[in-house]
Amino acid sequence: MDKQELMRQAVEAMKKAYAPYSHFQVGAALLAASGKIYQGCNIENAAYTPTNCAERTAFFKAVSEGEREFEAICIVGGPDGIPSGFTAPCGVCRQVMMEFCRPETFQVLLTDGQGQCREYTLSELLPEGFGPDDLKK
Ligand code: THU
Repeated sequence: MDKQELMRQAVEAMKKAYAPYSHFQVGAALLAASGKIYQGCNIENAAYTPTNCAERTAFFKAVSEGEREFEAICIVGGPDGIPSGFTAPCGVCRQVMMEFCRPETFQVLLTDGQGQCREYTLSELLPEGFGPDDLKK
């Protein structure tokens, strides 16, 4: 996995954020098992609740293109697109990751946009998560 490239693409995606209400721009770069990288940004809405996070935008783009397996996602965010610290995925996005990713191996990379990176597995961010396998029990 080329982490530098994922970080670069997350920052590129952040610049496309549509965030006229919070002004907090987020970008994500999602690496599929196919090797393709899907970018996503947050897309806000005047009615607020239809807002879509950057991570889910990336997942929904990829899944709608036929991808079902993923290796890693890199996330960056900050006010007015200036990265501030490390932006972690919200609970809803963690649950969407749970649907398509193996929690023990899927990597969540948080970058500060300055080359620093914090790395987690999905199981670290969503311990005891509920996923598709639980419906088969
Ligand atoms: N946001 C994301 O895109 N991803 C996250 O993981 C955290 C929050 C967006 C949603 C909203 O547009 C803005 O950041 C402020 O919450």
